[in-house]
Amino acid sequence: MKSAVFATLATAILGASAAPAKRASSAIDDTTVLNFALTLEHLENAFYSGALAKYDAKAFTDAGMPSYARGRFVEIGMHEAAHVKFLSGALGANATQPCNYTFPYTDPKSFAALSMTLEGVGVSAYTGAAQYITSKAYLTAAASVLSTEARHASWVASVVDKQAGWSGPFDVPLGLDSVYSLAAEFITSCPSSNPVLPVKAFPTLTFPAGAKPGSKVTLTFDKGNSTGTCYAAFYTGTGAEYAKIDSGDKSVTIPKDLRGTVYAVVTTNGTASADANTVAGVAVLDFSFDSNGKLIN
Ligand SMILES: *[C@@H]1O[C@H](CO)[C@@H](O)[C@H](O)[C@H]1NC(C)=O
Ligand SMILES: *[C@@H]1O[C@H](CO)[C@@H](O)[C@H](O)[C@H]1NC(C)=O
Ligand SMILES: *[C@@H]1O[C@H](CO)[C@@H](O)[C@H](O)[C@H]1NC(C)=O
Ligand SMILES: *[C@@H]1O[C@H](CO)[C@@H](O)[C@H](O)[C@H]1NC(C)=O
Repeated sequence: MKSAVFATLATAILGASAAPAKRASSAIDDTTVLNFALTLEHLENAFYSGALAKYDAKAFTDAGMPSYARGRFVEIGMHEAAHVKFLSGALGANATQPCNYTFPYTDPKSFAALSMTLEGVGVSAYTGAAQYITSKAYLTAAASVLSTEARHASWVASVVDKQAGWSGPFDVPLGLDSVYSLAAEFITSCPSSNPVLPVKAFPTLTFPAGAKPGSKVTLTFDKGNSTGTCYAAFYTGTGAEYAKIDSGDKSVTIPKDLRGTVYAVVTTNGTASADANTVAGVAVLDFSFDSNGKLIN
């Protein structure tokens, strides 16, 4: 679902394409974290309001969803609007403004699938960014938003997509650049007055359609100027599994025990992947499983 064009565009527009500044941890104050969160909430808010303006109740039932599904998506959209209002209020004059977006859904079904992905990214964003929040009041508010986004993801997964409502005992904390890489593909342009956040989007990483745990697949990514061995890091729970990428044909074998939503990146570090050593990504892999833990589809 990643588009190199959008990622590049967004990077250029947000002014993050210049030599990625070394991120001093002091650069990430509460205003920056809240604006980072607001960047995602604006995106989600636009995602729901756009799709719900396009698809009426009949469109949802025609797509095979229960008659109450649209009403639930309306509620979710209202929650995102409330998150925007809350963060904007907390940030006052510092609040980043909405951008223009493009979302690749084509019908209520693909809208619902993207909704599950975006809510999951929201959960991983708040989980990964929690360590930067210094205000206890904001940390409490962020936890409250996080659990709500997790319920959204869970409801869409279990009721709409008939999948497990979770990936496992832990959700993935994603780094700021990893989250931004996932958001940037949907951002087409932003107001020039928006604060420049200390984040960048990585080059695109694509897995072939139908990639499954245990299968050997060929990845598509640009190694850039990185020389030496590259690894695929599969973020799952609070850790990662690694697999060496063949330097010739860029093939890799996906670890066979992965389940649920897994975020994959190409990294130069085969034991401790992080934003700092990421070469390309983030690819979202969805390995749904039944109540016996067996893969479905
Ligand atoms: C804007 O951000 C700066 C830097 O974090 C902070 O000092 C200032 O109080 C903020 N202004 C508002 C209105 O929140
Ligand atoms: C969004 O797109 C509209 C229409 O193309 C344009 O007029 C507007 O300036 C854009 N806004 C931003 C924030 O880029
Ligand atoms: C590789 O390129 C990036 C920017 O694209 C730069 O920041 C980095 O220093 C380069 N690394 C080497 C080893 O040249
Ligand atoms: C990977 O990262 C860990 C933790 O930062 C570090 O100790 C190790 O040396 C790194 N390995 C490589 C090959 O860079």
